[in-house]
Amino acid sequence: MITSRGRVVPDFRELAGPVCSRGRVQEMRHFPQHGCVSTYDHVVRVSRTALRWSRALPIRVHEHELVRGALLHDYYLYDWHDPQNVGHATRHPLRALRNAEEDFGLTERERNIIASHMWPLPPTRIPRCVEAWVVCAADKWCSLVETVLMR
Ligand SMILES: [Fe+2]
Ligand SMILES: [Fe+2]
Repeated sequence: MITSRGRVVPDFRELAGPVCSRGRVQEMRHFPQHGCVSTYDHVVRVSRTALRWSRALPIRVHEHELVRGALLHDYYLYDWHDPQNVGHATRHPLRALRNAEEDFGLTERERNIIASHMWPLPPTRIPRCVEAWVVCAADKWCSLVETVLMR
């Protein structure tokens, strides 16, 4: 694919495909995220949005890691609406990270994307690379859209 700036870049499916068909990624289809949106559809939306924003902004990112980290950022694999999942908002990034570590070989950048995506919850788990900042912002934007417009 060729961007508006004339760069030849892989398209989203090329970057995301290898992750989407591995591990327990497809299991995310069974868990609701916001309204009628499944966790799988949410992570794909966040990942597409993060890639699109990173290509539109004057920044350089590691696109493979950006897309992989975004696809795995909510890899916690349970229904957060279940009342037994107290503290979900702050705890689920670490559960997602643990599951992702079990199924994928992660880079430090991917670990940071997953662990810090809920920042400022908690304030100490800070995005430490540009990819993590983009995913953190894309997650908030997509969550808002899904909550308000896709109920
Ligand atoms: Fe999350
Ligand atoms: Fe999310």
